[in-house]
Amino acid sequence: MWDHIIQHSLKVAQVALFLAKALNRTGERLDLDLIEASSLLHDITKKQSIENNEDHVITGAALLKDLGYDRVSKIVKYHVRLPRRRPLHRITEAEIVNYADKRVLHDRIVALKERFADVKLRYAKNKHTLDRINATEEESIKLEHKIFSKLSIDPGDIGNLL
Ligand SMILES: [Fe+2]
Repeated sequence: MWDHIIQHSLKVAQVALFLAKALNRTGERLDLDLIEASSLLHDITKKQSIENNEDHVITGAALLKDLGYDRVSKIVKYHVRLPRRRPLHRITEAEIVNYADKRVLHDRIVALKERFADVKLRYAKNKHTLDRINATEEESIKLEHKIFSKLSIDPGDIGNLL
């Protein structure tokens, strides 16, 4: 694993745990260990996937499943795009890891807008890909509302509170 991916993963774990603990104080019952492990491992195959032109979501989830980490595997599988069917009111561990990843650009906490601007710059090579990224951005904005509707802080506060 490249060092910058390690730094990124550490920061994602920090953000994810911060949000999960705050949500648990409001009555959610998020599994903090599961969130920490999944955040740290979410890009586990990123290096090999880039080198082999593979999808790191698929290879990462497959590797973790093979190793016997089924619950972590399922979260890694959804760290870029969430499944369509999700609980309306309860927050899931997958949602927390997915959202935290969207708030960390390299090892820096940023707004969703900045993170997606970078994704578009790097990956939107054609209209199809751009449409897909825009759809994911919409999904993340909705998820942000869902998470922060339960909290008394704003999305922009995370950086100062960590
Ligand atoms: Fe990733």
